[in-house]
Amino acid sequence: MTPRDRVADLAMIRAGIAAGTAILDTARAYAQVDAPLYGEELAAEAARGTGVIVGTKGGHSRTGANTWDADISAGRIRSDVETSLRVFAGERLELYYLHRVDLAEQPVEEGMSALAALRDEGKVARIGLSNVTVADLERATAIARVDAVQNLHSAMGRESAEVVAWCEAGEVPFFAYSPLRSSSNAPRLAAMAAARGVSRQRLQLRALLESSPVLSVISGATRPETVLDSLAAESEPWDEDLQTAYEEDLSIKA
Ligand SMILES: NC(=O)c1ccc[n+]([C@@H]2O[C@H](COP(=O)([O-])OP(=O)(O)OC[C@H]3O[C@@H](n4cnc5c(N)ncnc54)[C@H](OP(=O)(O)O)[C@@H]3O)[C@@H](O)[C@H]2O)c1
Repeated sequence: MTPRDRVADLAMIRAGIAAGTAILDTARAYAQVDAPLYGEELAAEAARGTGVIVGTKGGHSRTGANTWDADISAGRIRSDVETSLRVFAGERLELYYLHRVDLAEQPVEEGMSALAALRDEGKVARIGLSNVTVADLERATAIARVDAVQNLHSAMGRESAEVVAWCEAGEVPFFAYSPLRSSSNAPRLAAMAAARGVSRQRLQLRALLESSPVLSVISGATRPETVLDSLAAESEPWDEDLQTAYEEDLSIKA
């Protein structure tokens, strides 16, 4: 998240929590170089006392306006966790991801071993892996239990289908990030949305949620209106017409 207006950003997150957001997703890498803890600080403040879980990430930070590093060495992960613990006032971190397993030069085993030790110490409650393949997950689970996976998986792209299948087999929660990427070319869903008087995006999020029992979506937003609309996807009615429209729009891309 880019620093904008702290009061407005906090109000937006709180509006989402009031409407039923269960998990907030943040990371060091989303903040600007001069305010690297902005997203974590906002999430910690908004979630405090609500029971909402914050998922945050380590091993990937912004180094310039458009540059980031990727380091899942044991020392870096421990240092990132310790920094996050200070932001969260020493409370245990409920969900902590290795952010860019795909870009780091270290093997996944190194970051996974570091997080497993931190979980054993009670500093991290759940271990997540982000931007991973099935092979990464197999190697990581040989070290310790993986509690959550977060990968790019959009409604119209279904980029991580194999990883979702792996999560289903092991009943591991899968979080689909950028769920609305490249979502505009969906004529059947757009027509159905107009007929139902809802947004096309709401139907796309609903369709993605329906696609797997272990899948949740991480929907990004800069406005309270889109936060609330995306949350409404969970209660949007599902029926065969919606399934058919979604499959027809998916086939356009195939
Ligand atoms: N693990 C990783 O490496 C990784 C990478 C990228 C993202 N993520 C996570 O995933 C989150 C979402 O990703 P993203 O922001 O790239 O993609 P996204 O959720 O697919 O798209 C966000 C955009 O969609 C719009 N939008 C959301 N809900 C909408 C709705 N109901 N109706 C109309 N427009 C809607 C938002 O509009 P407004 O701006 O107008 O609100 C925003 O411009 C990020 O915030 C981050 O937490 C993780």
